[in-house]
Amino acid sequence: MNREELKAAAVAMLERSYVPYSHFPVGAALECADGTVFTGCNIENAGYSPTICAERVAVGKAVSEGHTDFVRIAVAGESENYCVPCGVCRQVLMEFAPEIEVICLNKKGDELALPLKELLPYGFDPSYLGK
Ligand code: THU
Repeated sequence: MNREELKAAAVAMLERSYVPYSHFPVGAALECADGTVFTGCNIENAGYSPTICAERVAVGKAVSEGHTDFVRIAVAGESENYCVPCGVCRQVLMEFAPEIEVICLNKKGDELALPLKELLPYGFDPSYLGK
C-alpha cells in the first residue's frame, strides 16, 4: 500500500467510529514492515474512561495477530486541525515502534507527518526497564 492508500484507509475508518458522546470520529491505518496494514477507529463508552482511541484499536489488532514491527501510521479526523495522537497513544506506539512515522490528517486530507520521537521526546521506552 502506498502513502496515499494508507491515508485513504485511515479516512475510510472514520465511518466505523462509534462516537455517540464526543461526535469526534478518528480513523487509523497502521503499516507494518512487511506491508500488512491494520486499521482502527475510536470506540467510545458510556463510562467514558473505557473509550479506546483509533490508534490503539489498530495496535491491538496488529499485536494480537503477531505483528509488532510498525513503520507508519496514518491518523484521520474531521476537524480543521491535524488529528494528532493523544499522549496515551504516543506512549503505546513508543513501546513497539520508536522510529515510526506518524501521518496526521485534517478534514481536507492535508498531512502533517512527524517522527514519533518528535511527538514524544524523552518517551519512556522499554530500555528504562532494562529491556
Ligand atoms: N481520539 C482518538 O481516537 N485518537 C486520538 O489520539 C485522540 C482522541 C478519540 C477519543 C475520543 O473518542 C475522541 O477522539 C475525542 O477525544
